[in-house]
Amino acid sequence: MKILVLGSGGREHAIVCALAKSRVFAATTGDLKEYLHSAPGNSGIAQIAQCHQANINAPDEILALCKKLEIDLAIVGPEEPLIVGVSDTLRNNGIKVFGPGARGAKLEGSKSFSKQFMVKNGIPTAGFDVCSTMSQCKEALAKRQAPYVIKADGLAAGKGVFLPDSYDEAIDVCSNLLEGHFLGDAGNTLVIEDYMEGKELTVLAMTDGNNAILLEPSQDHKRVFDDNKGPNTGGMGAYSPVSWADKELLSKIGTQVLNPSLEGLKNEGISYCGVLYLGLMLKPDGELCLLEYNSRFGDPETQAVLPIFNGDFGEAVLSCCNGTLGEYQEHYSLSSLSENAKKSSICVILASGGYPGFYEPGKIIEGIPEAEAMSGVEIYHAGTKKVADGEIRTTGGRVLGVTAISDSIENARSLAYEAIGKIKFEKMHYRKDIGEI
Ligand code: GLY
Repeated sequence: MKILVLGSGGREHAIVCALAKSRVFAATTGDLKEYLHSAPGNSGIAQIAQCHQANINAPDEILALCKKLEIDLAIVGPEEPLIVGVSDTLRNNGIKVFGPGARGAKLEGSKSFSKQFMVKNGIPTAGFDVCSTMSQCKEALAKRQAPYVIKADGLAAGKGVFLPDSYDEAIDVCSNLLEGHFLGDAGNTLVIEDYMEGKELTVLAMTDGNNAILLEPSQDHKRVFDDNKGPNTGGMGAYSPVSWADKELLSKIGTQVLNPSLEGLKNEGISYCGVLYLGLMLKPDGELCLLEYNSRFGDPETQAVLPIFNGDFGEAVLSCCNGTLGEYQEHYSLSSLSENAKKSSICVILASGGYPGFYEPGKIIEGIPEAEAMSGVEIYHAGTKKVADGEIRTTGGRVLGVTAISDSIENARSLAYEAIGKIKFEKMHYRKDIGEI
């Protein structure tokens, strides 16, 4: 079995680490790096997998790489390659892929498509209007009150959701997007939604299109500063499990959201193998609301959830690709007392000073070996680079994810912040309140 993981962030590092522990490699001999590959990968991934330079959004280039490396299975980390059809190209050429084709990825790639899909399949979601002219926007805004929720239809690297506090500000946002092309084509169509209040939850479902397994629910922290202040980021940390996401709620998520989603995909003739990310809200009245789908693992939720995954991750991925997830479920329900069953985990992102705005790269990072030597601590690389002098330097806004695993969220949090105390780089910034519920 030769596996290629596409992507270069902390999420992909966590995926590679989980694969490295899997029994899918049990029969292999020699160096694991012969079997585990990544494109482009990062300096953390390079410690356990062979990394290859490639444009992961170019289907033919990735197909050529897979052929050269004799890859059996590809796992697609980020959304862009899914949306441009990398999975379709690989599958059409006989390579197993964990990640939906372009039609399935549209659930993430087009907000208007996903909202219409939710309504068509009776999935609870906030009321909305799809607008592509200013007069439609004015009509949609006039029906609602502040704060307004305006979403760009297309992919916008986490910058496509706006919550203006006044009607005038909302008009400016719409005009910047529709007329100023502030987000390019991604903002040519807008979704204007009812504002919802409640508690947010991420549920990641791995699916073969028929069956699905839910990973432990998690919560991420999107704002850059403590107490949910400051601008939105790609995510400053996550924790799992979430105490209020009990069995009853999970069963409701299954009945009201996951099962109708899978049915709806089948009815559209979309064969969906990969992760269905459910961005949910639990409203104060106890009702569920699906805020969004993503067609891939969350980042940084994955860095919190995979280390406490109660099963063999590689086997789960393979079962999805083979359409045999039902058998996998039967096998793992027998081992519910596995060592991870009662673990909690927290991932704190260490970011460059200035992120999500301008930041200076190239800062030397110290203390990673000391932090990762701690029992129960995993360090996931995201924006790092090993340079010629052997130093690890910062290259991105989100630099490292420090994950700690323990018997409770409180203990995991203490452990994570103790590990962070060992890591240093100039202008390092992180939230101090990850996992405080
Ligand atoms: N953490 C949010 C996301 O992955 O989209």
